[in-house]
Amino acid sequence: MCGIVGYIGEDKAVDILLSGLKRLEYRGYDSAGIAVLNGGMQVSHAVGKVQQLADRVYRDWTPEFISATRLGIAHTRWATHGPPTENNAHPHLDQSGRIALVHNGIIENYSDLRQRLAAEGHTFSSDTDTEVLAHLIGEYFDGDLLSAVCGALRQVEGTFGIAAICVEQSDRMVVARRGSPIVIGLGDQETIVASDASAIVAHTDQVIYMDDDDVAVIERDGVDLRNIHNVPVSRQVSRIEWDAKAAEKGGFEHFMLKEIFEQPEALRNTIRGRLDLGRASAILSGLSLTSREMAEIQRVVLMGCGTSLHAAMIGEYFFEDLADLPADVEQAAEFRYRNPIIHSRDLAVAISQSGETADTLAAVREAKNKGALVAGVCNVVGSTIARETGLGVYLHAGPEIGVASTKAFTSQLLVLLMMALKFGRCRRLSRQSGEALCREIEQVPDLVQQVLQRNQQIAEIAAKYSAARDFFFVGRGYLYPAALEGALKLKEISYIHAEGYHAAELKHGPIALLHADVPVMALLCDVPGKEKTLGNVEECKARHAPVVAVATEGDRDAIRICEDVIEVPRTSTYLSPLVTVVAMQVFAYHVARLRGCEIDQPRNLAKSVTVE
Ligand code: G6P
Repeated sequence: MCGIVGYIGEDKAVDILLSGLKRLEYRGYDSAGIAVLNGGMQVSHAVGKVQQLADRVYRDWTPEFISATRLGIAHTRWATHGPPTENNAHPHLDQSGRIALVHNGIIENYSDLRQRLAAEGHTFSSDTDTEVLAHLIGEYFDGDLLSAVCGALRQVEGTFGIAAICVEQSDRMVVARRGSPIVIGLGDQETIVASDASAIVAHTDQVIYMDDDDVAVIERDGVDLRNIHNVPVSRQVSRIEWDAKAAEKGGFEHFMLKEIFEQPEALRNTIRGRLDLGRASAILSGLSLTSREMAEIQRVVLMGCGTSLHAAMIGEYFFEDLADLPADVEQAAEFRYRNPIIHSRDLAVAISQSGETADTLAAVREAKNKGALVAGVCNVVGSTIARETGLGVYLHAGPEIGVASTKAFTSQLLVLLMMALKFGRCRRLSRQSGEALCREIEQVPDLVQQVLQRNQQIAEIAAKYSAARDFFFVGRGYLYPAALEGALKLKEISYIHAEGYHAAELKHGPIALLHADVPVMALLCDVPGKEKTLGNVEECKARHAPVVAVATEGDRDAIRICEDVIEVPRTSTYLSPLVTVVAMQVFAYHVARLRGCEIDQPRNLAKSVTVE
């Protein structure tokens, strides 16, 4: 969703801010803006892409001004309060026009604050909650931006990641966070802040992840960290473990394609150092529970949204089958509002690529409140969920830029599998079975590579179905959540109406919609349930629906019955969803490409959903 970049240093702030915004484009946005200080305040906004903002800035501001500017803030906005217009784009100014603010998150009491300020004579030029906060900071300003920001934020309910600058103090920027991340990059005579590390990594790998209610004065050569009550706090400096290249396309047409093809490597990184063949178990140091503590866990609650929810659903099977542990899956928004029953011997596992999804974060807090042990499975190091959970396992899949999650999903599956293995070995799983699983996990990168080698063949099959208007995906057992994920991938990036169903549910509704123009993707790997799904395929055929299968290579049944077969290597049941989903990612990608869709930034979607 919205993105923030701020810069102060010896370099050209305008260029750095605009290229930082470009690195945040993947998050999803619909307008952009920039404010800089150089003599006075200059602000520019544009609806649409960052490039449109850049064109405007380089047209309206002189080259001398641009090359002499050293401080500024910039923003990509994903509309919440008010449509994507220039007026609503950030930065917003206070009443005096001398303070500029960019903001991620939502000010929940903005309407009360706006009324109060309007009664005092403030006039507003946007529909946004952010402008109200800018005016509030202006109200508190008496020459010191830090105390004005602290004073204003103490009046605010809701979430924020902000960066503010003011004409009176052109040697600094003030940033703050509650619920919306802000990362501070410490360079040599320059400091760059952003809502995510990908806008910083080209400048420095030394960063501070702000905590909730931290406020910081950012100067060229340092940072003064406070809390919202203006009391000094100290935070650790961390190192970003990937470089700028990891967040570039590297010759691929789209980030999504690059990330699909990166999966063997990402999965190798997920596994690295984590398999313990000696004990036939997994080493997950972030999950620092003793064997006894693990044996005492009575239930696992897996929580997430979107693709991470589908990973959770597959995790349920892992924990039940391998660890002999009851497991429940919770859509995170449902969990947070439903008053769920949680016991102290429950382990809640929050699954989130970004570690910032608002509902998943709230579910973490709810589970903690109710006394559960809570662990995170996140990709983004230092993200809010990773920090709030304390216990957890990082994916180490590298930055995922494409909005539609691919490599994070397969890494999530492996982490959940390794977690189930570890729990299983403290409970009922035999050494022999544990060892066999370790050996299989080691093979996963190669298995995925084998699927990717069929890219061309999958592209040819995709071409036959790229004009479809509707699509059904069906599977059973481990391949049921995989069907949901296959449908999600297709709808996210190709805008084809795609629905995932349990194959047994076909008869309870969807079959009414089948005819010659409604293809079905049937997940037919050679695992329990396959025979029954084959029966359902026959039912689809009887309604003239074309059926594409994802099946184990050489599967004669699939070849005989289905129009097209995407073959995947033979695996155990546990890994069948993983190879199947990779094949469907490739399929969805080619369909979307043939339809000319904006694959990396699908309409209306955001990489990280940080508001409800
Ligand atoms: C958004 C993204 C999805 C992602 C979901 C959950 O909807 O577009 O790709 O699966 O959020 O995100 P998380 O970061 O919590 O895994």
